[in-house]
Amino acid sequence: MRPPGPGQGPAGQPPAGQPPAGPERSSDPGTAASPAPPSGADEAGGRGPAAAVEVSHLSKSFGGRAAVEDVSFSVAPGEVFGFLGPNGAGKTTTVRILGTLIAPTSGSATVAGIPLSPANGAEIRQRISIMPEAPGLYLRLTVTENLRFFARLYGLPRREVRIGEALAAVGLSDRADDLCGSLSKGLRQRAALARTLLNDPAVMFLDEPTSGLDPVAAHEVHGLIGALRDRGVTVFLTTHRLDEAERLCDRVAIMNTSLRTIGRPDELRQMLFSRSLAVTTAAPLASPDQVFTGLPAVQGWRPADPAGGGGTADYVLAVSDPARAAPGVTRALVGAGADVLSITESRHTLEDVYLELIEDQESRSR
Ligand SMILES: Nc1ncnc2c1ncn2[C@@H]1O[C@H](COP(=O)(O)OP(=O)(O)OP(=O)(O)O)[C@@H](O)[C@H]1O
Ligand SMILES: [Mg+2]
Repeated sequence: MRPPGPGQGPAGQPPAGQPPAGPERSSDPGTAASPAPPSGADEAGGRGPAAAVEVSHLSKSFGGRAAVEDVSFSVAPGEVFGFLGPNGAGKTTTVRILGTLIAPTSGSATVAGIPLSPANGAEIRQRISIMPEAPGLYLRLTVTENLRFFARLYGLPRREVRIGEALAAVGLSDRADDLCGSLSKGLRQRAALARTLLNDPAVMFLDEPTSGLDPVAAHEVHGLIGALRDRGVTVFLTTHRLDEAERLCDRVAIMNTSLRTIGRPDELRQMLFSRSLAVTTAAPLASPDQVFTGLPAVQGWRPADPAGGGGTADYVLAVSDPARAAPGVTRALVGAGADVLSITESRHTLEDVYLELIEDQESRSR
């Protein structure tokens, strides 16, 4: 079967018709981390290498409806950057803009150090790759035939070597001659990732790479993203899986048309949630106020919600320093004759942060 022409090809990949790739980037994994300074790259005030992605006041409207509104952020070289938000938040639209597939309505960006503009599109596309929401492989071609097709489309040199390397990187060498249609979803995802590795990109955009995968297949994709990080590739990861973002990402941006927040997962947790101790006793305290009030580093208390079952009682204590508060709390509980079942520092997840931000916004817009 002849693959369809590029016009009908899978969406999301750099379009065909690019001039042959420019000076080849090293395929040595050790040096992939530091892309040669591209033309247009500048040193930010001499303070270090240019950002891998820099977005400034980016907006995109479709027919008068804003999909992305005044979004600004930057991603450092080698960073794994999570891009989170509910359905319709504008994540894929942002990826498509940064991947030169659609033009922004306003605002500016640099990608792989190159200013985003129609004139620079080809140069940018040589330094990035995109794994779109739908991997878009030709199911009646083998894995290798797919990769050959895309390698030719991109005008890559040393095609067979690159294909071999990409297959090895995703652990698919032994399935190279299998039809893509015969692969499981997870293996197809790996084949799609192999395709994105072909041009040895400096920046990879992965749009929900683990969507629909079972935990084992998702775990494998996580491993591959970890390997990309080790190679120094900048990874722009769009995901709905907050556990995935928490585990993989150096920083995350949470957006809902406009940017809601950005930071390291632990920073966001601290920013949104006060620190607290969770206390469980075998039976409700007769006078919790008397027990908890005035203890060192304890700022307040409330019954936990929902209350624990089985006759036990749960309390949440707002504290300035959990390590300093816990000993005094323990002594006070024992002094009050309580049977202490546990005292732990409450942990908030990135999911808590996400829900707090998104629900807060939705309740305000109602
Ligand atoms: N080509 C288009 N024409 C018209 N509207 C569009 C187009 N592409 C996206 N939109 C709209 O822009 C908004 C953002 O869509 P986008 O695909 O970027 O969201 P997303 O955050 O990727 O969502 P999801 O999590 O569902 O993938 C949505 O309201 C969508 O319907
Ligand atoms: Mg999307």
